[in-house]
Amino acid sequence: MSIRLGVNIDHVATVRQARRTDEPSVVWAAAEAELGGADGITFHLREDRRHIQDEDARLLKRTVTVRLNMEMSIAAEIVGIACEIHPTVCTLVPEKREELTTEGGLDVVRLRPRVSEAVRRLRDGGMEVSGFIEPSGDQIHACAEAGFDAVELWTGGYAHARTEAEVDAALTVLADGVRTSREAGLTVLGGHGLTYRNVARAAAIPGFVEFNIGHSIVSRSVFVGMREAVRAMKELMVRGERAPMPR
Ligand code: PXP
Repeated sequence: MSIRLGVNIDHVATVRQARRTDEPSVVWAAAEAELGGADGITFHLREDRRHIQDEDARLLKRTVTVRLNMEMSIAAEIVGIACEIHPTVCTLVPEKREELTTEGGLDVVRLRPRVSEAVRRLRDGGMEVSGFIEPSGDQIHACAEAGFDAVELWTGGYAHARTEAEVDAALTVLADGVRTSREAGLTVLGGHGLTYRNVARAAAIPGFVEFNIGHSIVSRSVFVGMREAVRAMKELMVRGERAPMPR
């Protein structure tokens, strides 16, 4: 099976919230993404509700036919909402009100008791639980011990690398992170900052089962439509995966 693409549709809601109106529709965006070949739909119900609203989450649960991934903080209120909505998978992420987007991973080492409690509630509710973390051994082992099913490794270090040496170093860190996660029994996903330009080299790292990509796909969809934007991203991922990185 080829690497899965989870399409994050938060920024469709960002455009809608700019006018607090009813368009563009996130449900329509999700359906178009599915028609383009998305293997999953991802949304982030933020505590500040800056883009996705509670009603969006409920509508997506009723309409999405592929995997539904809810990104969320570990706040008890949000964990309660997730248990009600019941997505396929919940991805625990750090959240700060002043940030533009999720910056870096959740510090599972530092927040271990609170994170473990959120994982327990979500798994008891019958959902898979993933942790969005930096690709470091400490965080990966903390996730395994906290009972996560999966980790989503933060690919921002790679996406933000500028020189060829920085890119190579970041890819090595990611490849090591994938290996350590798999050895710890975790399913390995990746995401953040992936674009049409950089996705192929990340997909060439063996062991990733899914990438979650938002901003780049939604940006391209403005010009070519969501269906085509998703199709093109998926094609690059599958092509990259077939050209594995040298060992
Ligand atoms: N994965 C997680 C956990 C995220 O928080 C985000 C950003 O919302 C993404 C993936 C997608 O990042 P981008 O919009 O940069 O593709």
